[in-house]
Amino acid sequence: MKHFTIQEVKSWDRFYRGNFINSISGFKSVSLIGTVDQENNPNLAIFSNIVHLGADPALVGFINRPREASPHTLSNIEHTGSYTINHIHEEFLEKAHQTSAKYAKHESEFEKTGLSPLWTDHTKAPFVKESKVRYSMELQEIIPLKQNNTFLVVGAIQDIYVPSVAVQADGYVDLENVGSLASLGIDGYYKTSLLNRYAYAKADKEPTRLEA
Ligand SMILES: Cc1cc2nc3c(=O)[nH]c(=O)nc-3n(C[C@H](O)[C@H](O)[C@H](O)COP(=O)(O)O)c2cc1C
Repeated sequence: MKHFTIQEVKSWDRFYRGNFINSISGFKSVSLIGTVDQENNPNLAIFSNIVHLGADPALVGFINRPREASPHTLSNIEHTGSYTINHIHEEFLEKAHQTSAKYAKHESEFEKTGLSPLWTDHTKAPFVKESKVRYSMELQEIIPLKQNNTFLVVGAIQDIYVPSVAVQADGYVDLENVGSLASLGIDGYYKTSLLNRYAYAKADKEPTRLEA
């Protein structure tokens, strides 16, 4: 086992350190966030710092990098208050990764990558047609984090689209069944493989596996 102190980590090359620290917090969900600007021009970008914040109200947060590094999604959400979150699947992984490139504001990542915008009456922002799990969000709050100039964007889930085959009897959504990918660091993507589900843990009981 190797021991690294933070002093040592700080002395590393920027890219090496970025990969190392980005990986160490573990596997993450990864999705495409769709938005529009004030003139309804679509924007799409890949995000992996996405986190469940609570079920009732149904809140999801994501971390946006400092404004200079990731400007468009953030400013579109500030202006319109709406966005979509779309899971990524193996069939369009490369296109999804490509949305992280720094395209100019007037360039649409949908056009650049060949992914298809899907417009609905319920939200201003476009979904990604190729995505099998997608949901729309209404902005609640943007919290600037002083330590590193990033932003925690807090949103409330509105409409959810998911194949019925993936929704189990108890409400668990079997994302493996629909091939939603996970990520590690900022360039590694994974398929998933369930080990087990377990009953709610109780202090006086042994862990109990749930039947698949
Ligand atoms: C796998 C992966 C995950 C990423 N996760 C985030 C993230 O959570 N937050 C973020 O601000 N940028 C993230 N990025 C970088 C953005 O995708 C990139 O800055 C993009 O150009 C932002 O586009 P925008 O300016 O249109 O919002 C990630 C990139 C990759 C490849």
